[in-house]
Amino acid sequence: MTGPKIILDCDPGHDDAVAILLAARHCEILAITTVSGNAPLHMTTANALLMCQIAGLDVPVHAGADRPLLVPAAHAPRAHGHSGLDGPPRPEVHRTVNGNDAVGCIIETIRTHDDVWLVPVGPLTNVALAMRQAPDIVERLAGISLMGGAIGPGNVTPTAEFNIWADPHAAQIVFASGAPLMRMAGLNLTHQLCVGPDVIASLRASGGTVPEFVAGLFDFYLAGYRERADLDAAPLHDPCAVLAVTLPALFEFGARHVEVETAGELTRGMTVADERPGTDADPNCEIAYRIDAGAAMELIVDAVCSYD
Ligand code: BDR
Ligand code: CA
Repeated sequence: MTGPKIILDCDPGHDDAVAILLAARHCEILAITTVSGNAPLHMTTANALLMCQIAGLDVPVHAGADRPLLVPAAHAPRAHGHSGLDGPPRPEVHRTVNGNDAVGCIIETIRTHDDVWLVPVGPLTNVALAMRQAPDIVERLAGISLMGGAIGPGNVTPTAEFNIWADPHAAQIVFASGAPLMRMAGLNLTHQLCVGPDVIASLRASGGTVPEFVAGLFDFYLAGYRERADLDAAPLHDPCAVLAVTLPALFEFGARHVEVETAGELTRGMTVADERPGTDADPNCEIAYRIDAGAAMELIVDAVCSYD
C-alpha cells in the first residue's frame, strides 16, 4: 500500500481497531506499536494482532510500555470492556509479535526512513520514551498526528481526556518535543464523528467477516454510550488522527501553543491551549477544530467494507 509512511502507536480499543483498518488502506504502515491503555499491554497487543490477523495485514507488531512513566497504570473497561475489545465472538489469535521493544522499533524506523508520521492513538508512553532515548528522531519526523486531549470537557475527569490523563508526563514530553509538525485530534473534534445505528447497519449489509466483526464491536461500544451518556451515537476518536495525515483537507485546524497539566489536583492531564487573542505564545500544535464528518465516515465505512 502506498500513502504516507506511518507508525501507528495504539492501545486497541474499539476505535483503535478501526484506525488500524483505515490506516492499512490509506497509508504505508511501517509498524504497529502497542502500549498499556484501554486494557493492560498483553491485551492491547493481542487485540492489535487479532485485527492484523482477521484483516490479513502483513504489518510488524511490536509490544511496548506496560505502564506509564510515573503515574500508576489505568485502563478503560467501561468503554472497551476488560479485554479492550469486548463485543463480538473473539477468534483465537495465532499471529505473534515481531518484538517486545516498541521504543527501539520506533527509534530504528524513524532513523532508517525519511518522512515518517507518528500516529499515536493511546497514552504517549512509547513515544515519550523513544524521544527521551533518541532525541535525534524528532527532527527526522514528517510530523505527529495524535488523538488525545480536549479543548473543552474531558472524558475521564471534567478537564482531561483518557490518553493524556493516563500518562500526562509522557504527553508533556511529546507536546514540548519541538516536532516539525504536530496535529491534535481531541475530544472537541472526535465528538463530531459519531457511529450510530445507521453506520452499523451499513457495515452489516456489506456481508464480509471483517465488517461484521466491526459491527459487533460498534454494538458493544454504542451500548456503553447509550447507558452512560444516553446518546444514540458514539464518538469514533482514533481514526481522526489517521485522517488528519491522509486527508487534512477534511479538517479546520488552528495553530496554538498547547501544554499538558501534569500536577494539578483537579486538572491532571488537561491540555491547556493558549487561545488568547493576540497571544505571543509560539504555536507548537495544529489543533483540529472541525471535521467534515459525513465525508470522513464514508471513507471509514468504505475502508472497513473493503475487507472480506
Ligand atoms: C481515547 O481513549 C480511548 O478510550 C480511545 O481508544 C481513544 O484513543 C479517547 O479518549
Ligand atoms: Ca486509543
